[in-house]
Amino acid sequence: MAATAFQVGESFAGQMDGRDPLAHFRERFHIPRGVDGSDAIYLCGHSLGLQPKSVRGYVEQELKDWELLGVEGHFRGKNPWMPYHRLLTEQTAELVGANPSEVVVMNSLTVNLHLMMVSFYRPTAERHKIVIEDSAFPSDQYAVKSQIRFHGFDPVTSLIELRPGAAERVIRDEDILNVIAREGDSIALILLGGVNYSSGQVFDMAAVTKAGHAKGCVVGFDLAHAAGNIPLHLHEWGPDFAAWCSYKYLNGGPGCIAGCFVHERHGKEWNLPRFAGWWGHDQDSRFQMGPDFKPMPGAEGWQLSNPPILSLAALRASMEIFHEAGIENLREKSVSLTGYLEYLLDQQHSPAFSIITPRQPERRGAQLSIRIQRNGRVICDKLTDEGILCDWREPDILRVAPMPLYNTFTDVYRFVERFVALLGK
Ligand SMILES: Cc1ncc(COP(=O)(O)O)c(C=O)c1O
Repeated sequence: MAATAFQVGESFAGQMDGRDPLAHFRERFHIPRGVDGSDAIYLCGHSLGLQPKSVRGYVEQELKDWELLGVEGHFRGKNPWMPYHRLLTEQTAELVGANPSEVVVMNSLTVNLHLMMVSFYRPTAERHKIVIEDSAFPSDQYAVKSQIRFHGFDPVTSLIELRPGAAERVIRDEDILNVIAREGDSIALILLGGVNYSSGQVFDMAAVTKAGHAKGCVVGFDLAHAAGNIPLHLHEWGPDFAAWCSYKYLNGGPGCIAGCFVHERHGKEWNLPRFAGWWGHDQDSRFQMGPDFKPMPGAEGWQLSNPPILSLAALRASMEIFHEAGIENLREKSVSLTGYLEYLLDQQHSPAFSIITPRQPERRGAQLSIRIQRNGRVICDKLTDEGILCDWREPDILRVAPMPLYNTFTDVYRFVERFVALLGK
């Protein structure tokens, strides 16, 4: 809905909820309780998504098979554990716009980023640089710096950190393309977040990929804040790899198993260097227990270990819901919910805070990052005490993310009402 069509007042929020075709999905989630026992206002799905009620059944099924079958659960369980991770392949591919052979669920996010860099960051004396956002999540910064050092280079000369221009809070897409045009010949890898965790800015992944490839660079994305938040078309956009976690927008539960994409053009590059483990070995000969590694084709060839079934089971519950709701439908509601949040905040005309997330819906996901002039941390803590959960990023950012699967327009309205009241105190 266009911002001009939004209205002030709680009754408007109620009307929006009343005609929301996705509203019923909220009932499929456990909503944490606030201090007075009523539903909390949970705007923190960018950090940890809520638990689908169906998770318990999925996990209990696997506990039951373990209880009754022991090791035989690998072959005789209701959903045999041996190929269990494949139960997630179709829906994962659908969610990120990939072919099934291009995706796999495995490990956790930082581990997958390292595994991808083992294969795809292959610096030479002429081409050794990695491009990241200067505000990339710390784990990504540690990971790329450690990879640079591992190859005998120095982050001081081999790391390009993209910064917003003076007096700006987000990086301009054209600045990224200019850096690639200028420095491309010395860049080995461009590794950006699809959505920046701090500003909520969406990068133009198709344009970055195209520009990077035109200069001979490898392009990868950290999609921690993009998967399940915005529609993705990874196969078509063509990055070499991507990785994401499943505990934020994807509601897989704390520490849930992560996802990984390897473009199909690399799926049979047998000579790529890669760290190997038995679960990535050709499945037909895996149990011959031979000494030599023969990778499976596609993303599955990067697996190391047999995966945690209970975590996969929890993720299945959530992926079923995404499949049912459809990411395009969710995005449509998300644009409206976030636009409504922006509208209500703008109505305050307050100098005490500003929204740093881009104003164009196509340049952001569900999250608005609100820069607060004074006492922001205290306000965030007070909101939490009142059962309104968002999160704080030093030094001055409140990150608020209404989720189309379980948040309401009324949640957004009540958040703004309390936020403004606390700002005024
Ligand atoms: C953008 C981004 N990258 C990496 C990570 C690290 O994820 P993990 O602890 O699952 O490796 C996070 C975690 O929040 C993140 O937001």
